[in-house]
Amino acid sequence: MKCVKIIEKLSQFHTASEDELAELIDTINDEELEFLRKKAQATAQEHFGNKIFVRGLIEFSSYCKNDCLYCGLRRSNKKAVRYRLSKEQIMQCCKQGYELGFRTFVLQGGEDSYFDDDKMCEIVKAIRSDFSDCAITLSLGERSPESYQRLFDSGADRYLLRHETANEEHYNKLHPSEMSLKNRKSCLFKLKEIGYQTGAGFMVGSPYQTTQTLVEDLMFLKELKPQMCGIGPFIHHKDTPFASENDGSVRQCLILLSIIRLMHPSILLPATTALGTADKFGREMGVLHGANVVMPNLSPRAHRSDYSLYDNKICTGDEAAECIKCMSNRMKKIGYMLTVDRGDYKEKFGEDNVQV
Ligand code: SAM
Ligand code: SF4
Ligand code: FES
Repeated sequence: MKCVKIIEKLSQFHTASEDELAELIDTINDEELEFLRKKAQATAQEHFGNKIFVRGLIEFSSYCKNDCLYCGLRRSNKKAVRYRLSKEQIMQCCKQGYELGFRTFVLQGGEDSYFDDDKMCEIVKAIRSDFSDCAITLSLGERSPESYQRLFDSGADRYLLRHETANEEHYNKLHPSEMSLKNRKSCLFKLKEIGYQTGAGFMVGSPYQTTQTLVEDLMFLKELKPQMCGIGPFIHHKDTPFASENDGSVRQCLILLSIIRLMHPSILLPATTALGTADKFGREMGVLHGANVVMPNLSPRAHRSDYSLYDNKICTGDEAAECIKCMSNRMKKIGYMLTVDRGDYKEKFGEDNVQV
């Protein structure tokens, strides 16, 4: 089937066969991509107008017990500078963020056993109590079902845990043997079952990724039906085993953003920092291809450059106030505006039940 036909099918029925998705990813030309982009942007605008939700990202620990081969925070990277924010520092970031108009705080970190359930629940409860009209998103990696439940009961609303790749063989090439796709998936289903607005996602152009694994990622999203999906290009980090691997392509990332928007019209879809790192206008292009969320950095400036997942990460030298102002201007320039809103997931009735 011609790409245009597949795009029309996607925008009407929110689904396509695996073969059609593979054909689209592999063969879409620039003219067809513009058609896809317009459909995805129109779908996002139908749901969110010209409003962009903002999340304040607080990168609170650069310690990690895991050894994901792609990430600069992996435990084997002895050159990584490690830091942890105290509860008081985290609260200070939230206070500043609140004043700047943020109504979602994302606490993200490496898998750091220092932040056990007692410590994390105490932090979540304090944010819940001081900022009762804000959403609390956690991104702390894999934990036990009991831990996820306790954090939810303490007041966390959302959880971001990218599945990274839905293909087992591929997963095992990106992670050491003690990590498994099975556990990753089971964490994601548990998070949804508990009641979190849950975010999955993957890197575009990670080493060993193929069209087939990308199609499997899209199929997994159909199965999980997450409320959020974070995708961004893989970018190498000089002190990891993937130091000399090629970075992911911005074009392919934009294609996937648009496909995901059409497959899941109301999904919360960020234009990520990695996309903004790979291209100066990556986040703007992400929004124009159907993204509806941005995540400016709220972490204290002194630690920003130490949360080094990949080389040349942007926004590391800027204060939170500068970063949000810069983001707001960027969005205005393309006809969008940041909104002071929790930006919860709202499903349009029946969208996930369409069958063809
Ligand atoms: N430790 C938690 C986890 O792994 O879920 C949360 C923090 S982790 C740094 C957040 C995300 O960063 C990962 O899910 C991964 O997709 C992304 N990431 C890590 N290294 C990257 C790289 N080299 N290029 C692009 N994205 C990367
Ligand atoms: Fe740790 Fe997350 Fe980086 Fe993996 S991706 S090494 S779990 S911070
Ligand atoms: Fe962070 Fe521009 S968005 S400095």
